[in-house]
Amino acid sequence: MNDYMVDLRSDTVTKPTDAMRRAMAEAEVGDDLYGEDPTAVRLEALYAEMVGKEAALFLPSGVMANQVAIRTHTKPGTWVAAGSNQHVVAFEYGGSARNAGVQFFLLDDSDGTFGLDELDAAKSTQRYWDFSLSLVCIENTHMPSGGRIWDLAKLDRLAQSVGSIPLHMDGARLFNASVASGVSVARIASGADSVMTCVSKGLGAPVGSLLAGSADFIAAARYERGVLGGQMRQVGVLAAAGIVALSTMVDRLAEDHERAKVLAAAVAERFGETASDFEIPQTNIVAFDHPQVDALSLALKSAGVLANPIGPKRMRLVTHKDLDDADIEFADKAIRNLADFGVLE
Ligand SMILES: Cc1ncc(COP(=O)(O)O)c(C=O)c1O
Repeated sequence: MNDYMVDLRSDTVTKPTDAMRRAMAEAEVGDDLYGEDPTAVRLEALYAEMVGKEAALFLPSGVMANQVAIRTHTKPGTWVAAGSNQHVVAFEYGGSARNAGVQFFLLDDSDGTFGLDELDAAKSTQRYWDFSLSLVCIENTHMPSGGRIWDLAKLDRLAQSVGSIPLHMDGARLFNASVASGVSVARIASGADSVMTCVSKGLGAPVGSLLAGSADFIAAARYERGVLGGQMRQVGVLAAAGIVALSTMVDRLAEDHERAKVLAAAVAERFGETASDFEIPQTNIVAFDHPQVDALSLALKSAGVLANPIGPKRMRLVTHKDLDDADIEFADKAIRNLADFGVLE
């Protein structure tokens, strides 16, 4: 086993920068439940302005931000249309059923987006079955497909097509989408009624996510955050890092995207014959199908590279700010030269 490990498990492994730690130490704080934490208020205003919404709310995690959004938009027993691989469906512990009492109407998002005709079919199904579609959720960038970006024209058509049904955008990596496409986050989120972003991923803050929408929606979401126990007190110590993340860490995401392309080329060379459904990454995630993901993960670990499967046949490598050129060169070589490995029983 190598002592030196290149950690490609997730962009959540990033540690706060020195500037973040300084800002955290110096943050002005107060009791946020009374609206008295000036740093949290500043972070919420900054995010709301960036994404072009009236108001925003700081939450402990992306999962909680999505769950609060779903609770706020829906009523128990109603249906939420979403891609079957999306985080809200596949990676939130079944939380939407428990926290909001909703059911999912699953759409095929294997290429990162879903067909608007499929959504129209879901909408018209309402006429024949006794169900009501209360929300449409999308993920942008879409993690399981390898950080793919919703095409802007398609997003605009989606916003038209949902009509009066609210649209929630899980933009955990919204800034990756913006940097890679050159389109502002406000424009990307313009058709969404609510949008959430994690500052704890590629942007490098230690904790936290933001949810934005209309002032009324955020007032209701603030209440729902409380229902889930997510209210925080002198949270300015965390919000301060979020402000540094949003103000200084966005442009550098381009570097992560370039590095993902390097790793994708290595994957294509080494696993060309087994990696299916594989494309050059648009952002910071290399995702590919492999028949033996557990054995592959172990083999990579022995070669000094940490990477996780995200499904029984799906592998993921994620680039982030705590990697340097030497790490990428090391991982590139390790992948290209990975010896054949046995099948796990
Ligand atoms: C697309 C997406 N949404 C939501 C989340 C949840 O974020 P958190 O880990 O902060 O709860 C993640 C985390 O990996 C994610 O990839």
